Amino acid sequence: MERTLSIVKPDGVERGLVGEVVKRFENAGIRIVGMRMVRLTRDQAKRFYAVHRERPFYDSVTQFMSSGPIVVMVLEGDRVIQRNRDLMGATNPKDAAAGTIRKDFATDIEKNVVHGSDAPETARTEIDFFFNAIEICG
Ligand code: PPS
Repeated sequence: MERTLSIVKPDGVERGLVGEVVKRFENAGIRIVGMRMVRLTRDQAKRFYAVHRERPFYDSVTQFMSSGPIVVMVLEGDRVIQRNRDLMGATNPKDAAAGTIRKDFATDIEKNVVHGSDAPETARTEIDFFFNAIEICG
């Protein structure tokens, strides 16, 4: 059984897509074992995206991710890291497969509605960034 971190980004919350994203997880048989709304400070967004600090989009993505509330979730299930990424679709909505969250709703590579951890180690780090043990109902 794996866990992964999902984020409905500020554009997704603003556009009322939280329920749509949650429905897709639940319809896929993925369990939500932690969930909270939070607004990141700029510094917190910089820490969360620190792995991208040398990239040209670092300033922009950290500004965007601290621009409004987000909904963070811990998802649990068999192979859930990859299954969540399959539901999300490619980072750039232009490349996302039909029927994925990003193909259906994302407007560009930055305002792409959702984030999902990409590997077991990042999933652990990202879950620990937002949740402590008693906030996860495993
Ligand atoms: S990469 O290029 O593979 O490292 O990119 P990736 O890890 O898929 O995504 C990087 C995150 O930064 C956001 N973002 C951008 N990525 C690439 N190019 C541009 N111009 C850009 N602008 C923003 C992108 O949405 C990814 O966010 P997360 O939250 O990780 O999905």
